[in-house]
Amino acid sequence: MTRPSSAPIGVFDSGIGGLTVLRALLAELPRERFRYLGDTARLPYGTKTGETVVRYSLQAAEALLDLGVKCLVVACNTASAVGLEAIRDRVRPLPVIGVIEPGAEAACLATRSGHIAVMGTERTVSGGAYQQAILKRRPDARIDALPAQLFVALAEEGLSEGAIAESVARHYLGALFEGHGAESGESVPDTIVLGCTHFPVLTSAIRAVVGPRVRIVDSAETTARVVRAELAANGLASSSGAQALGAAQVPGAAQASSVAEASSTAEPSSAVQFIATDGAERFARVGSRFLGRPIRPDEVQLIDL
Ligand code: DGL
Repeated sequence: MTRPSSAPIGVFDSGIGGLTVLRALLAELPRERFRYLGDTARLPYGTKTGETVVRYSLQAAEALLDLGVKCLVVACNTASAVGLEAIRDRVRPLPVIGVIEPGAEAACLATRSGHIAVMGTERTVSGGAYQQAILKRRPDARIDALPAQLFVALAEEGLSEGAIAESVARHYLGALFEGHGAESGESVPDTIVLGCTHFPVLTSAIRAVVGPRVRIVDSAETTARVVRAELAANGLASSSGAQALGAAQVPGAAQASSVAEASSTAEPSSAVQFIATDGAERFARVGSRFLGRPIRPDEVQLIDL
């Protein structure tokens, strides 16, 4: 099974966090069209067992496959950490790009001292995928891995700034970044990698705890560059497509009674088609902040996986 270069790119996450990756993809690949699937009915993935995350991820991948996508971006660190190989096996030969390797790359490019803090969901951190990806690039790295599951709920609630977010950031980071103090001589990470696509919206709360000198990186832009390279390597880069419409300007997808119907009738005129498994209004309201531009509820189609 191969797909034409004019086909859209499939992107998925457990919820709206992957919209931070979609934002970078839209900037990097303005000629491409996207299908974004947020499995909002079953979020969070980060507290589930690996088996469940793999099962959910395969269902999401298959739904996007049914929409005719030419490649898949797994814009969820948790799904990338435990499900990437299973997804690759299922959709072969379509390219599948996860966010862990690009995130590790971003962290290794940013760090000077080699001391890196990885923040992610419980499942991502306990599986060790980020730690391995960093050590592969930088064997002398020192890594502090910090599960920060509550950040997902804050981000989904739209509570990503202010006193509550800062207090949770202090709960997770205070001991490491505020407990040492320069005088103790103890090494403090010079870089934090946000190993969950929900976390970039919490950057200012994290910054308030760790101070101005620590580099805070995420996988979005590096992932977008990897996707560009993969498309080129596979002859899948679109030569026409969304650019004429303007990727940032989204006229709005036609409402369809089902995704199958939407894919088999006229193509939506927008660069992005949003699909969720629950809560179109909430997806649009909170997701707008992640994407950096308004999403209308009627742009979001609901499906069952
Ligand atoms: N946004 C996802 C990630 O990058 C998962 C959040 C969750 O569902 O727990 O890991």
